[in-house]
Amino acid sequence: MNAAIRAVVRTGIFHGLAISGIYSGYRGLIKDDISPMKEQSVSGIINHGGTILRAGRCEEFKTEEGMALAEKSCRKHNLDALVIIGGDGSFRGGLEFYNLHAVNTIGVPASIDNDIAGTDASIGFDTAVNTAMVCVDRLRDTAEAHERIFVVEVMGRASGAIAIDVAIASGAEGILVPEVKMDIPALCKTLQMGKERGKRSFIVIVAEGVTSAYHVAREIEERLGRETRVLVLGHLQRGGPPTAHDREMASKMGACAVDLLLAGNTARMVGIQSGKTVDHHLSHAWEERAPFDEQSLLLAKRLAI
Ligand code: F6P
Repeated sequence: MNAAIRAVVRTGIFHGLAISGIYSGYRGLIKDDISPMKEQSVSGIINHGGTILRAGRCEEFKTEEGMALAEKSCRKHNLDALVIIGGDGSFRGGLEFYNLHAVNTIGVPASIDNDIAGTDASIGFDTAVNTAMVCVDRLRDTAEAHERIFVVEVMGRASGAIAIDVAIASGAEGILVPEVKMDIPALCKTLQMGKERGKRSFIVIVAEGVTSAYHVAREIEERLGRETRVLVLGHLQRGGPPTAHDREMASKMGACAVDLLLAGNTARMVGIQSGKTVDHHLSHAWEERAPFDEQSLLLAKRLAI
């Protein structure tokens, strides 16, 4: 997200705009936690995870009173438009605010879950996948040495996108995603067949939206009688230095958000599809469904033998 903030600030300044940073999302807009940003305000941030503007969930922004306070802040700071970096929930809030108070809003998709329609990837997804992959690589050493089964739980809410990419990239032996009905007997059969072919270690990637990794591990232990351990990666996946891909994509999306505003567009979201920067109406993010990558799931399973 820092790369996107940097791109918005510097593209805006390049075009002669005055840019302000709003801290902690909509909460900062309501509480008037807003500061002007200069070129140097975003120096040295592209290599850091998280966001210098901090983040926050804000129930108050869902109320008319909250939105009225937010509008007051916009007037006080002469904000003509907002660039919202976040997921579909943030975009929904932005569109309602635009409809109610005519403050233009452009959305930049950021979520490790990669579940936002209108873009092939959202900011943070690639970094989360790489972080999880490195953890699984490290785990593999112990799994091999001790001939163990490990169940690794990755994030993603209701999406299996992280799980699929991590499973392919780390050569996992099993994968469970929320988009497909859980089949523990089939999973155990795959593990058993691998054992019979001489495999020593087994990594099973479970997306958090399926069930708890502990539940899967218990089931495997009971069915196969083999020692099975659990690793829940949790919020580790949301931090650390972003990958080059995320930095580049976020830079393009941030710059595009400013370009869209300058061209007079209203209530749009930015995306990158087939390598090209695109834009859609903000509501596209929740009215459409981010496609489920069934082909990659099949590949992960096929390569797991
Ligand atoms: O949406 C991003 C995400 O990291 C999900 O993958 C996860 O389920 C959730 O947020 C965790 O939210 P919180 O930080 O509020 O526990």
